[in-house]
Amino acid sequence: MRKPIIAGNWKMNKTAAECRTLITELIPKVKDAKCDVVVCVPFTDIALAAELAAGTNIKVGAQNIAWAESGAFTGEISAAMLREAGAEYVIIGHSERRQYFGETDATVNSRLVRAIEAGFKPIVCVGETLDEREGGKTESVCKTQVVGAFKGISADAAKGVVIAYEPVWAIGTGKTATDDQANETIGYIRSVVKELYGAAVSDAMRIQYGGSMNPKNVEGLMAKPEIDGGLIGGASLKSDDFSYIVNKA
Ligand code: 13P
Repeated sequence: MRKPIIAGNWKMNKTAAECRTLITELIPKVKDAKCDVVVCVPFTDIALAAELAAGTNIKVGAQNIAWAESGAFTGEISAAMLREAGAEYVIIGHSERRQYFGETDATVNSRLVRAIEAGFKPIVCVGETLDEREGGKTESVCKTQVVGAFKGISADAAKGVVIAYEPVWAIGTGKTATDDQANETIGYIRSVVKELYGAAVSDAMRIQYGGSMNPKNVEGLMAKPEIDGGLIGGASLKSDDFSYIVNKA
């Protein structure tokens, strides 16, 4: 069976001082978790988060990674920098990166290739907008994003990647996909992975739900067979809410 993974995506929140408070509070609250626990923090918090989380069951992740190894890429962050700071996971292709910062399926693919080469555990985000869902395009959009992200990536490498299905209309809106909507689309995404890589990979791959996941809806979502965890935004910023979600998973 797939081990659930709950990851917090802090987005552009928490200074280093605030990071210290949150991680220090979280450590005792999630210590008995049965799932993998990850916090994807701003770049400036990674080294501190990794230092605080050392020896605990909390793993640290970043929210982006450059496709190049080094050089003239103002504003980007390299695999070597992330590794040295202590990141183990990395979120790639979040819808906010796609929406506001020009991320495309091609750049997501380049970043994923680099992350795998450099030994990170990537969390690749896919998901449709409200217009796309209402236009009946949810499956075609998710398929295009998954196929684009995994271009040129071997089955062996793909198995270790986590996909986060995050319907854009559910992010930060308080509108969660219903348990059945999330389960159905994640099941579809798994079928796309199966077409690409076969059943051994699609059965092993962990696919999370993300979008207004919170203490009230975690149980229903996690009870669904296709949903292997969550990528949590707003509710990951409070230790009580995040640890509640972790301990239900
Ligand atoms: P919210 O949980 O705030 O809706 O954010 C979800 C998300 O985008 C996680 O990556």
